[in-house]
Amino acid sequence: MIATLSYDTTAHELQLLDQRILPSVVEYVTCRTSSDVAQAIATMVVRGAPAIGVTAAYGVLLGAREAMADNDPARAMSRVFDSLAASRPTAVNLFWALERMRQVYLQHSPLRQSTLDALQCEALRIHQQDVEDNRCLGDHGAQLLPDRGTVLTHCNAGALATAGYGTALGVIRSAVAMGKELQVYATETRPFLQGARLTAFELQQDRIPVTLICDNMVGAMMAQGKIQSVVVGADRIAANGDTANKIGTYGIAVLAMAHGVPFYVAAPSSTIDRAMTSGKNIVIEQREPSEVTHFMGYPVAPEGIAVENPSFDLTPAKYISAIITERGVLKPPFAELKSSC
Ligand code: MRU
Repeated sequence: MIATLSYDTTAHELQLLDQRILPSVVEYVTCRTSSDVAQAIATMVVRGAPAIGVTAAYGVLLGAREAMADNDPARAMSRVFDSLAASRPTAVNLFWALERMRQVYLQHSPLRQSTLDALQCEALRIHQQDVEDNRCLGDHGAQLLPDRGTVLTHCNAGALATAGYGTALGVIRSAVAMGKELQVYATETRPFLQGARLTAFELQQDRIPVTLICDNMVGAMMAQGKIQSVVVGADRIAANGDTANKIGTYGIAVLAMAHGVPFYVAAPSSTIDRAMTSGKNIVIEQREPSEVTHFMGYPVAPEGIAVENPSFDLTPAKYISAIITERGVLKPPFAELKSSC
């Protein structure tokens, strides 16, 4: 797979694959400042919970380099953390990565060259750890998939949504590597089309058989017995197992239960928010109405129409058959989520 992101430790630049224009155009956006990074996250140049976390870690590093030249470096650093934290609200990985970077900053403050060195090490560690965690959770989750059959996934929880390999697609990749004969159904994932543009692209690149369907076809496919398993990623998992993920996930989970199809959530433990006792307080991002009223810049709805555009929804734990992390497979009632898992 082409790299989602890479950091040049000599030029001090972050390269982000521009996911808004894939698969037609493969182009990188260069970030040199923390506000370039915050802007890239907010505008979906980079997206997917783990990828956003890794990107934010590099954002702090770039911000710290700028803050060194500021009259008040401590104040400049708090602006860096605040602007990155405001870039997107739902995926907890963003806040998890910022917290890790903040701890390193505090341990090595006041800001000086050794602080930058320590922040760079931590950002590179967060980056590397994400790839390792995904490979590990992929191997755990692969055991749950059938030896042959069709797996449905929603949105893009692949290499493009992470530092590499993917979570839900990591499970599928590992299962295929184990010799399982899987077909994948990818939902197109309105309105941003992460399934059509990104998941279909990734799986095609890996030569894993993939069929694209519209979001509203899932029920019919399940009723016809065409889907044996569902595996999706997550943006935030509460301590009781309630899971926020891409809008449409909840509907798929309910349909899966109605049709006796297992529904799996795959995510690194950095996606677990133990402070959130249930999912009801998870902030769901609302995005621009134009994502719904326009298709590739072309209007597809009457001007001035009222629109709702929640980017995520909440799947209650009771619909989830298992949560797969790098540490293993958790089964309901997900008691391990409350402690360490
Ligand atoms: O709005 P996005 O594209 O950032 O949403 C992405 C998702 O909902 C993914 O399923 C989730 O972040 C998991 S990615 C491994």
